[in-house]
Amino acid sequence: MERIVISGGKPLYGEVTVSGAKNAAVAIIPGVVLCDEPCRIENIPNISDVSLIANILRDMGAMVRRVDKNTLDIDPRPINTYEATEEGVRKMRASYYLLGALLGRFHKAKVALPGGCNFGVRPIDQHLKGFQLMGAKNELINGAIIDLDASASFHGARIYFDTVSVGSTINVMLAAVKAEGQTIIENAAKEPHIVDLANFLNSMGANIRGAGTDVIKIRGVEYLHGVTYSIIPDQIEAGTYMAAAAATRGKITVRNITPKHLESISSKLREMGCEIDEYDEAVIVDATKRPLNRVNIKTMPHPGFPTDCQPQFVALLTTVKGTSIVNESVWDNRYQYVSELVRMGANISVEGRLAIIEGGTLTAAPVKATDLRAGAAMLIAGLVAEGTTSISNISYIERGYSDVVTKFQALGADIKKIYIPDPDAVATTA
Ligand code: EPU
Repeated sequence: MERIVISGGKPLYGEVTVSGAKNAAVAIIPGVVLCDEPCRIENIPNISDVSLIANILRDMGAMVRRVDKNTLDIDPRPINTYEATEEGVRKMRASYYLLGALLGRFHKAKVALPGGCNFGVRPIDQHLKGFQLMGAKNELINGAIIDLDASASFHGARIYFDTVSVGSTINVMLAAVKAEGQTIIENAAKEPHIVDLANFLNSMGANIRGAGTDVIKIRGVEYLHGVTYSIIPDQIEAGTYMAAAAATRGKITVRNITPKHLESISSKLREMGCEIDEYDEAVIVDATKRPLNRVNIKTMPHPGFPTDCQPQFVALLTTVKGTSIVNESVWDNRYQYVSELVRMGANISVEGRLAIIEGGTLTAAPVKATDLRAGAAMLIAGLVAEGTTSISNISYIERGYSDVVTKFQALGADIKKIYIPDPDAVATTA
């Protein structure tokens, strides 16, 4: 069992460099399946979700070579199956991007239902609606595998999404790149990683217009050529370090970022009383100048405040005097971690989609990461709380944060990863 152990109570100071965006990487890597030549993908984050998706492609026959920590060479040409049903596929949400990518390449796809962080029901009805309109019949096999078949006719379509969905927008974009004719996605999601995926696909020769707006038009092409492509910086990782600086009342420089992607986060921190200085590829967060104010937050699809920073900001708000109200409008059930913060002395009550936070003092405690961003909230709470906080279930954190322990150490945090032998394993060998 591995844990992260933090002796909190020290403000963060210094510089941190943000890695490539997880949610772009896990869409772009499956996107390589559509390419007719090898690709090199740079600025890949060093996280377990990337290793998982790379292994899934390997299992399907792709040649995947890690050039260095942040660069992958992928030759998708040897892939000769439209099936991805191994156990690994279930371990991550983004493996469902193989549905769109394989449908685009083979006009058929058979993919295990995805796993990923659990925040209640995570339907994929909008993905399937898009594929159906493009000519694919779909069947759910044994409640575990989705079987798409568009071999009779695979074509562009006009698709209106009933809800703004990142995954559906990406999946249909992937499928449409090589479909005959034009696909129009209406009510599309606008997240930076959707624009990044479109830029990647266009650099290979795809014809996608409008990514980043709510109407995306894709005209199918026959051939995609190999490229070297560098993934955008991780907006959520940046937001996490910014929240941590504010929570510890420190001052940090966050490098390798795109300030435009951080507007909702920067403006919320400004509203709280932090000083935020933006540069071309860096931002300075200074929470040392004045006491911070309570604020309300409502999560929204981009360009609104990102749901993936909600737990980190709830952790921050537990340190700020007064009552703050957070409204989670994207996910039904993204407050499972609140009981862990309460173990650390936080005063938070949850009513449906609202979390009502009375700021106060946090005390160290043993806590667990209940999902990826919940784990980030535990890190922030641990950095604030006097005493030693130990966080379990850290594999969730490692799914999405590159080198998180060394990055916080470089900011002056007293944090380390430790290995605790499993008591059952000891009992068996004894
Ligand atoms: N939804 C439907 N039907 C669908 C798809 C989605 O009703 O067919 C609903 C969902 O239930 C949810 C809302 O639409 O209420 C938004 O879901 P979306 O499809 O946008 O989420 P996702 O694609 O499954 C991605 C990120 C999540 C992030 C959300 C929202 C990846 C791999 N995951 O998930 O990231 O929370 O968008 O921005 O890109 C994370 O990084 O920690 C994470 C969970």
